[in-house]
Amino acid sequence: MDFDLAQTDSLLSTTRAVRKRLDLDREVPDDVLLECLQLAVQAPTGSNQQGWRWLVVRDAEKKAGLAEIYRKAGGDYLAAAAADSDGAGQMGRVLDSANYLAQNLEKVPAMVIPMIIGRLDAVDAGSATGTNATNAAAGLMGSIIPAMWSFQLALRSRGLGSCYTTLHLGLEQEAAELLEIPAHMTQAGLLPVAYTKGTDFKVAKRPPVEEITYLDTYKNPIR
Ligand SMILES: Cc1cc2nc3c(=O)[nH]c(=O)nc-3n(C[C@H](O)[C@H](O)[C@H](O)COP(=O)(O)O)c2cc1C
Repeated sequence: MDFDLAQTDSLLSTTRAVRKRLDLDREVPDDVLLECLQLAVQAPTGSNQQGWRWLVVRDAEKKAGLAEIYRKAGGDYLAAAAADSDGAGQMGRVLDSANYLAQNLEKVPAMVIPMIIGRLDAVDAGSATGTNATNAAAGLMGSIIPAMWSFQLALRSRGLGSCYTTLHLGLEQEAAELLEIPAHMTQAGLLPVAYTKGTDFKVAKRPPVEEITYLDTYKNPIR
């Protein structure tokens, strides 16, 4: 199959963290979410375990509760940092935008909580490859993060947007209680989902990969 590279490259290079341009007034149908999630679960998982689970939150009280947890876990810090910053430069803009999301989180039409079965503190020590903190984290979180990103790409290709967030995980347990998530599950983040105001997102400024890519040894830049 020949891919349309212009389209796929554009999707991959313009799927941004959307906060201020989330359309808080437009409903997001379940069918669209489910279609995007169906694509997301094509993502790889360690040992093909497919332990992803997804929680869609639409209930106003639950969304308000999650927004409160989000702000308690870090949003208040964000507000202070944003107030201190002049909003200029890449960091200033991110802070300003992140603070906007924190202050308006409950207004998004839907939140999606991606989860993975298992806990980092209960990883099987008898695994064939041996277990240390690095491979435990890579195996568990690496089995949900690719699906989260695929979900965000699928949203973008349909005129919706999201922002990968992890701030509320500092109070993961409070969110688990609010949403009745069992203790053997790990939440991987909170994805606010909405249609976007416009669909013209830009390619972000990133370093030339030649500067961060090595050949054969870490001492040897590829070019
Ligand atoms: C692991 C991870 C955690 C993040 N957590 C948050 C968060 O809690 N709140 C937030 O507003 N953005 C969060 N972001 C979004 C980043 O701030 C954003 O991706 C970054 O500024 C680059 O912007 P871009 O994705 O548009 O290129 C997170 C992103 C990643 C990958």
